[in-house]
Amino acid sequence: MESTFETYVARLRERKAIAAGTAKETEAQHAKGRLSARERLDLLFDPGTFTEIDTLVLPRTERYLDGRSSRYGDGVITGFGTINGRHVFASSQAAGVMGGSLGEMHANKIVKVMRMAMTYGAPFIALNDSGGARIQEGVDSLAGYARIFDANCEASGVIPQLSIILGPCAGGAVYSPALTDFVFMTENSYMFITGPEVVRAVMQEQVSFEELGGGLIHSKESGVSHFLSKDDRECLLLVRDLIGYLPSNNMDDPPYILPVDDPNRRCPELESIVPVDSHKPYDVRQVIAAIVDDGRFLEVHQLWAENMVVGLARLNGYVVGLVANQPNVLAGTIDINASIKAAHFIRTCDAFNIPIITLQDVPGFLPGRHQEYGGIIRNGARMIYAYSEATVPKLMVITRKSYGGAYCMMSSKGLRGDLLYAWPNAEIAVMGAEGAVNVLFKKEVTAAEDPEARRRELVADYEERFNNPYVCAARGLIDDVIEPRDTRRVLIRALQATLSKRERHTGKKHGLSPA
Ligand code: HXC
Repeated sequence: MESTFETYVARLRERKAIAAGTAKETEAQHAKGRLSARERLDLLFDPGTFTEIDTLVLPRTERYLDGRSSRYGDGVITGFGTINGRHVFASSQAAGVMGGSLGEMHANKIVKVMRMAMTYGAPFIALNDSGGARIQEGVDSLAGYARIFDANCEASGVIPQLSIILGPCAGGAVYSPALTDFVFMTENSYMFITGPEVVRAVMQEQVSFEELGGGLIHSKESGVSHFLSKDDRECLLLVRDLIGYLPSNNMDDPPYILPVDDPNRRCPELESIVPVDSHKPYDVRQVIAAIVDDGRFLEVHQLWAENMVVGLARLNGYVVGLVANQPNVLAGTIDINASIKAAHFIRTCDAFNIPIITLQDVPGFLPGRHQEYGGIIRNGARMIYAYSEATVPKLMVITRKSYGGAYCMMSSKGLRGDLLYAWPNAEIAVMGAEGAVNVLFKKEVTAAEDPEARRRELVADYEERFNNPYVCAARGLIDDVIEPRDTRRVLIRALQATLSKRERHTGKKHGLSPA
């Protein structure tokens, strides 16, 4: 018997088929070395779980058409699905429909799915590939961007927000990603406020898309992008990886995984990775790999401000955020970008209940006019603010140097660091012995019979009396001096004791994190 629904179902199918996009659109993306909006969602989500909504939305101008529009979906696919079994909401712009440009209804779809993510407490991921504001929709398009920005701000700190840039992302479109927690770019994507033609007209300068705002530039120079991938596929797998470290929302804990790595494992290799001679560099990522579960470390902002290393890992199955000075780059000094990088990462961890582990080996601030003019004062203050504001467990290990302001700023007791440790070789002081003797004993050294011998004597004396971890330990400013090989087991015990931390801020409208 003929189904009475037949005609209706056929009409629905016709519309859905149009919304699914064409093979030509997909081929055009492939020709550019990119995937289509749907192929991207298929890779990002667990197979077969992505569920589309608002498939039949039409652009404002075509709202009353009868089913023959080529514009179903209005250039963006929105919906939800699972990533490793956990719910996530997403949007994916279709470059094949009016260049993926953002019109009023396209914006409404994105805002709707963002608000659903907030309501149901799940991460939101925006896949961007768009020519920006849809020119023919004029101010309706601009107003749409403003609504997206507003939703980004409201969702900030409530659910994880990730922006994935897989093609162009131009003009005001860049500000939604900039308001989110993590930005991913491929080598084949670009972001800029003013395009090459504007630069040419205003500045009389020739510049390519890649030079102006390619994935590499934003991952290495500007810090806009946190992760750089070769292509769409590699990028989307990395996004899945990151989601595995984040809670679904600010009320949840990050996902715990039953650990395989022994919590009592000693790490004797640390004693050869870190040279006792504090002038010698080493790669702090090797220290991190030795300490954390299975050596797995997801580094964030790997190519930017490399003198500070930040990223996510697990300790005995619990997600932790690591903030570490990198002696291999600029001797591990703190500069403007390192402060900004650390501050943002600390605030992200704090928002999502991720304990922070700081590894200190820092000679102080990077000196110079460039740093002072660039505002190291206000930018360094951001890091202090972030550590002080964070109410998650704050653990710290001084592996070698901890000098001056850097001592105070990085998770110290004064900033309510929870459990702080130092290795026995640690140098913790206002400044290095040479500098201290030059300031304190200038007259005495000059007046001595053998000034050089006297200077050496005073330096040795200073090192003996001040420049060791025991002065700090004697005042309870660190909680213990530990053997380097015990670092993992000590941190795991400290983490387990502090996971139940309950600290609340005093009521205020909001603080004023330095500009
Ligand atoms: C409407 C657009 C569009 C846009 C592209 N298209 N961008 N339609 N509004 N912003 C359309 C094209 O007309 C074309 O339609 C189709 O999409 C594909 O575009 P192509 O140029 O053929 O593709 P490609 O060579 O890959 O180049 C992609 C591009 C380029 C680099 C993105 O299209 C481009 O430069 N677009 C304009 C970018 C821009 O200036 N946007 C406004 C930024 S200002 P047909 O029908 O021919 O297939 C802005 C302000 C936001 O965004 C402020 C928010 C606060």
